[in-house]
Amino acid sequence: MEGSPRNDLDAWWMPFTANRAFKRAPRLISEADGLYYRDAGGKKILDGIAGLWCCNAGHNRAPIVAAIRAQAGRLDYAPPFQFGHEPAFALAARLAALAPAGLDHVFFCNSGSEAIDTALKIALAYRHARGEAGRTQLIGRERGYHGVGFGGISVGGLPNNRKTFGHGLSGIDHLPHTYDRAHQAFSVGEPEWGAHRADDLERIVALHDASTIAAVIVEPMAGSTGDLPPPVGYLKRLREICERHGLLLIFDEVITGFGRLGTAFAAERYGVTPDMICFAKGVTSGAVPLGGVIVAEPIHAALMQGPERAIELFHGYTYSGHPLACAAGLAALDLYRDEGLFERARSLEPVFAEALMSLRDAPNVLDIRTCGLAAGIDLAPHPDGPGARGFAVMERAFHDHDLVVRISGDTLALSPPLIVGADDIAGLVERLGKAIRAAT
Ligand SMILES: Cc1ncc(COP(=O)(O)O)c(C=O)c1O
Repeated sequence: MEGSPRNDLDAWWMPFTANRAFKRAPRLISEADGLYYRDAGGKKILDGIAGLWCCNAGHNRAPIVAAIRAQAGRLDYAPPFQFGHEPAFALAARLAALAPAGLDHVFFCNSGSEAIDTALKIALAYRHARGEAGRTQLIGRERGYHGVGFGGISVGGLPNNRKTFGHGLSGIDHLPHTYDRAHQAFSVGEPEWGAHRADDLERIVALHDASTIAAVIVEPMAGSTGDLPPPVGYLKRLREICERHGLLLIFDEVITGFGRLGTAFAAERYGVTPDMICFAKGVTSGAVPLGGVIVAEPIHAALMQGPERAIELFHGYTYSGHPLACAAGLAALDLYRDEGLFERARSLEPVFAEALMSLRDAPNVLDIRTCGLAAGIDLAPHPDGPGARGFAVMERAFHDHDLVVRISGDTLALSPPLIVGADDIAGLVERLGKAIRAAT
């Protein structure tokens, strides 16, 4: 028999968290509404990162809550293997319509990490279907984050996410990242310097030969590594090189999708159409887990082979296209459209950039980058070691200045819900400045 239920903090091993420090001084959240959380005492805390880059329409939006409730009362679950339901077909059609022309088919999963695994597997299955089974190599990028599955950490380029977990997938190479502070510090939007870093793909192709490479995967703007927008022209150059050598190009738009950069997808902002787009997070405004891959017609067509009764792709999840997630997704897409939230992000971009750049003379600030409604701030490390200053800012922001910020080492990340206004942005930057000054 189970003992009496406990509600101390010991049992939950928290993800990507300094568990011991958290449990000494917990940052507990009880409720949310719009731009704000509340703690158990009712204190309002500004959400500076839209949940975790996911609650793009803000928290607890009534239409999304109502859609989830209604769906739960109508159809809680139906198997996605060999059976289907209306909300998944409806959402897939809406997403295909939102994506660049030619990306017409949507494979659902439950998270960004699963979306990456799914895209990489589709790339390999596509090669196999075309009689190119030798094209198995996958090319990622340094400082890329593609979730935490073995596929994602292998193509990803964040040392801490890889180095304690063995060898990962074989047959992986990495492009160099695009960041260079000497050339790019304090850039608003896409930095002018750095497009040539795409040319390294030619070196990688020469090294391995195109006949061994299945696909290249990048985040259009690297998010988790501290908001590294692509240099002007970089993505176009990458696309051209992929085309020259017949490599598939996959955009991981788990963060950049659904308005973060002022467009439905970053592909639209940059005028570059990849062969697949991975999405998650903002598709439901974070209300129910959902992810997926939007796939170009020729890839889908190549895999629709064999007898009609045969399964074409041996891949899927019990909760692929879960009815509650799809209902939340449909409601979130309605909100984005009806409230013009992508356009709103685009029009607030200069206001956001100017407000953030007002912190350039704050103590220990080495660089600030903004793009769309996302920003990264690099701080000089504290003598106590890497990450100490970033952690202190996060703690001070939450406990003393009623603000949630995200940290990656000594880099702070900001990505407020797209419903922010100019005054909210000013308030966010004021709180952040206080927290940065408190952590000197
Ligand atoms: C670009 C990118 N890809 C993939 C993921 C993984 O998503 P999830 O945490 O839903 O597995 C993330 C999460 O932050 C991400 O930022």
